[in-house]
Formats: sequence, structure tokens, C-alpha cells
Amino acid sequence: MLEIKKITVRYGENPPVLEDFSLLVRRGEIVAIVGESGSGKTTVIRAVLGNLPGDGRVTKGDILFEGRSLLSLNREEWRRLRGTQISMIFQDSGAMMNPTRSVGAQFVEYIRAHSGLTKNEAREKSLEMLSSVRLPDPERVMKSYPFELSGGMRQRVGIAMALAFRPKLLLADEPTSALDVTTQAQIVRQMTLQKKESDAAMILITHNLALAAYMSDHIIVLKDGKVVDSGSRDHILRRPESGYTKNLLAAVPAVKGARYV
Ligand SMILES: Nc1ncnc2c1ncn2[C@@H]1O[C@H](COP(=O)(O)OP(=O)(O)OP(=O)(O)O)[C@@H](O)[C@H]1O
Ligand SMILES: [Mg+2]
Repeated sequence: MLEIKKITVRYGENPPVLEDFSLLVRRGEIVAIVGESGSGKTTVIRAVLGNLPGDGRVTKGDILFEGRSLLSLNREEWRRLRGTQISMIFQDSGAMMNPTRSVGAQFVEYIRAHSGLTKNEAREKSLEMLSSVRLPDPERVMKSYPFELSGGMRQRVGIAMALAFRPKLLLADEPTSALDVTTQAQIVRQMTLQKKESDAAMILITHNLALAAYMSDHIIVLKDGKVVDSGSRDHILRRPESGYTKNLLAAVPAVKGARYV
């Protein structure tokens, strides 16, 4: 599905912010990238999507999606891939939406931009997607402005949009960090469910090792742009190699005497 092969990313002439980074994610799998702020997590996703900000660039290695290098795609090829084959779930989907237009208008426009559907067909599809993420009263959600929805509802809208074209690969950057704990749990359940149904592959970025442990098959721990641990979920939880990961594990709060991971 997606294979990142030993990439190095630099901004201008600064030292690399990501070094020798590799990742393999197969159909139906979730790979979590865990690490503190500034460790390079978002950089990985932006490199995959071909939109590193400023003068950021991949200086070494390759990124293969279904065997094809993403590094050599042109604008038009990217346009065809984004949204339909590869899509993103952001930290705060509300912030990505236009505050002055209804959710429905934006959803319909998004669907039409990526397909040949008519306005009515796109509307039907929007409603269908909104109910598939268990949003109550999709009709009302469509008419609402983003600020009229709760953070959790907006995040469900974001997930519904990201899944609209059954993408093969989902990139989720801190998808639950902007939410309160209860809503986080609901959204996590939603994503797990949805992922099972669609059989998509997913890269989950989080600073929360407990979340990574709960959701993912593989975990990669990043520190200062370098991989300090990488392996199956159980391996990382039971036999972490680096002292850094051990500290992260020790910091996960125990719930009622039992550790949460
Ligand atoms: N446009 C840019 N120009 C120069 N350096 C940048 C740019 N964007 C990010 N960086 C640097 O790249 C490094 C990794 O940043 P990145 O955003 O990938 O971290 P992160 O792990 O996602 O952090 P957070 O958890 O805070 O989101 C940081 O040192 C950051 O300063
Ligand atoms: Mg980030």
C-alpha cells in the first residue's frame, strides 16, 4: 500500500528535521507515529502528501504508493489522488471549514470537486456519509454552520468527508487532540469502526501513546526526527528498545490500578 523508504527531509539548508525514516502500512492496518512536539510527525504526513511547507523537501529516499513513487507526481496527478485515494483527517476539522457557509454546501462542493456527480447526487451522498459516522439528524447538520456544531460533531463531519470516496489510505494528524476525553473516546471508536468497514490503511499521528496502543497494529516512536523504536504494537509495549519509549510508557497514567496500555 504505502511504503516510505529511508527518507530525509530538510527545510532549506537547516539540519534535517527527519532522518532515515521508513514506514510500511498495508491494507486494513493502522500504523501510529508517536512523539513529542517538534519530533517530525506532521512532516512525515506532509511529505507523503507532497506538500511540505516553505522550502521543505525530501532529500533522500522514496515514498511509494501502490508501487508508484509519489515524489515524482505532477500537480494534476496529485489532484486525482488526493481526496479519492489518499485523504486526511485533521486535528480540528472545524478550523478547516469556511465559517460563513453551511456544512452541507461545503460537503456538496467537496464531493463535486472530486467526482462527476450532480448537485442532488452529491447531496444524497453527503447525507449518507453523515449518517454513516452516526451523526444524528444529518439534514440538520447539513443546514448548520460549522460554529453551530460541537467539536465532536465537526470532527465527525471531517471523518465523513475524508471517507467519502473510500480512500485506500487515511492520514490522521492528531485527530482527537482538540476534543474532550469523552468525545475523544467516541471519535476513536468511530474511526476504528469505519476503518474496519472500509479496509483502508491508516497512518495515525499522536503524542498519546495510550491512543496509539489502543488503535494501531504498529507503532513508530520519533524523537528529534529520528526513529527510536519501531515494531508491532505488542513489541513496543512489552519490549521497547529505547529509554525514551520506556519513559513514555511509564508516563501513561494507570487507570484503577491497571495501566491504560
Ligand atoms: N516551514 C518550516 N520551515 C522550517 N522548519 C520547519 C517548518 N515546518 C516545520 N519545521 C520544523 O520541523 C520540525 C518538525 O516539525 P513537525 O511539525 O513535523 O513536528 P510535529 O511532531 O508534528 O510537532 P507537533 O506535535 O507540535 O505537531 C520542527 O523542528 C519544526 O521547527
Ligand atoms: Mg504536528
